[in-house]
Amino acid sequence: MKSNLPLHVGIIMDGNGRWAKKRIQPRAFGHKAGMNRMISLAEHAQRLGIKYLTLYVLSTENLSRPKEELDGLFGLFRKYFKANVNKLYQANARIKVIGDSSPLPEDVRALLGESEKNSPADAGFTLIFAINYGSRAEIINAVNRAVENGEKVDESGFAALLYTDGVPDPDLIIRTGGEVRLSNFLMYQSAYAELYFTDVLFPDFTDAEFDKALENYLTRERRYGKV
Ligand code: IPE
Ligand code: IPE
Ligand code: MG
Repeated sequence: MKSNLPLHVGIIMDGNGRWAKKRIQPRAFGHKAGMNRMISLAEHAQRLGIKYLTLYVLSTENLSRPKEELDGLFGLFRKYFKANVNKLYQANARIKVIGDSSPLPEDVRALLGESEKNSPADAGFTLIFAINYGSRAEIINAVNRAVENGEKVDESGFAALLYTDGVPDPDLIIRTGGEVRLSNFLMYQSAYAELYFTDVLFPDFTDAEFDKALENYLTRERRYGKV
């Protein structure tokens, strides 16, 4: 399986709320279970030899959820980063954050910034957190930067103005939780990504389910418009 593995996988981690509801628990219970799953999945992907994993943690639209839910989510990020960042560095992983961090709580913002800055330079694995991320905001931001620079851009020049500068385009996008849409995730970058949708709710998306998605990916013929 190794040789044709996707270089970059993106995951739209959806279904935490419904997972909790099925258990007659508050949504926060689902987010906690999802966070635990996310940590294990990142380790699994690195072990398999995937080089870039982008996790959709929070969309620009999610920022209008009730304050109580957002506070709970930010609490989980704090805990996650503090508990796992050193372990990630030791495993030679680099952290990158994409999205607009300016509306996030100040300490979360600082934590994200530091975890990026302290990452090993020569890491073999890049774990990308999409937090308050939206493709439309990203594209508009890039256009404004191009206008400020006062120069026309080509495709590679434009890509360099996106949050994902330096990151290869995703080969595979996985969405859990049953919805068949991108919800503003990597819309520019996923022009030629293979898409995999599963009804499995994110907290139930085991390492074996991830392997199933990879196996499915390996059956795809990527033609890029050619015959
Ligand atoms: C995805 O799970 C996590 C975030 C968007 C933060 P949801 O919270 O959207 O869960 P559902 O879709 O309501 O089940
Ligand atoms: C997409 O899930 C965003 C993340 C998983 C972070 P949503 O639950 O916000 O998506 P919609 O609202 O169903 O499109
Ligand atoms: Mg959802």
